[in-house]
Amino acid sequence: MNGLITLSPEQFARFATFIYERTGIRTADGKVMLLSNRIRRRLRARGLDSFDAYYDLLLADQEGDELEAFVDAITTNETHFFRTSAHFDWVAGPFLDELTAAAAGRRRDRTLRIWSAACSTGEEAYSLAMCLTEQAGRLAGWRLSVLGTDLCGEALATARAGTYGHRAVEAVSPERLARHFTADPAAGTWKVRSPAARLCEFRRHNLLDPMLEPPFSLIVVRNVLIYFDRESKRLALANLIAALEPGGYLLVGTTDGGSEHLSELERRSTFAYRKP
Ligand SMILES: C[S@@+](CC[C@H](N)C(=O)[O-])C[C@H]1O[C@@H](n2cnc3c(N)ncnc32)[C@H](O)[C@@H]1O
Repeated sequence: MNGLITLSPEQFARFATFIYERTGIRTADGKVMLLSNRIRRRLRARGLDSFDAYYDLLLADQEGDELEAFVDAITTNETHFFRTSAHFDWVAGPFLDELTAAAAGRRRDRTLRIWSAACSTGEEAYSLAMCLTEQAGRLAGWRLSVLGTDLCGEALATARAGTYGHRAVEAVSPERLARHFTADPAAGTWKVRSPAARLCEFRRHNLLDPMLEPPFSLIVVRNVLIYFDRESKRLALANLIAALEPGGYLLVGTTDGGSEHLSELERRSTFAYRKP
């Protein structure tokens, strides 16, 4: 297939609807070239020479393997460690202050479950785990865990491996690099070390589906709702709120929007919302 061929308007509309129904992601009309390029990767992988043939294959995919590969191809997985450092300062500061005070006053137990929702390749989940291990003194005796989830299987495989290149760690201070990573200078990689690594677990999950897990004290959702429209934002946020424990916090990315769906939460800052 000629690499320059792009989706026709009808094909674009069909794929965009397919993507929206399965992921909540709205593909803007101007993204024809981007979407064509991303889908062409799957055509090549499956030895097909037309977008229509690939669409038929996707619809007939009973096992869901091609759907998974398609999602891998079309998602934007850009992320890095300690992205938006103010959010991590808040977790290590005001959030843990409130939590540890509540535990000291016997108003809660010493279990802290964090969910990095749409974690991509895992940097966000590991950054949260690093914040916790740096506060080991005041979290002594606590049961700590960080769950990272995403729709993209390829991204989750990277997260589980926990090994990153230079760009991912650019915003990490030299102290943190030394404390939490094992460098491999020959390969130019950094591998996340325990105890932070041990706290993290990664699993596939679609934000449009309810989370069937015990409730979380903190849920972080950043740089994903920007791809959703109003209805998929509403659904995803309702699922996230339902997964929060009473008194738990939802941390929403500064550009994600969706504040109109958070009225049942108390707004504590520009990005932190508390479930009453
Ligand atoms: C740009 S990354 C954000 C990563 C990280 N949260 C951050 O802020 O750096 C967006 C991620 O959302 C994931 N995603 C998109 N739609 C999703 C859905 N419906 N359910 C779960 N994850 C989704 C993509 O696979 C991608 O990895």
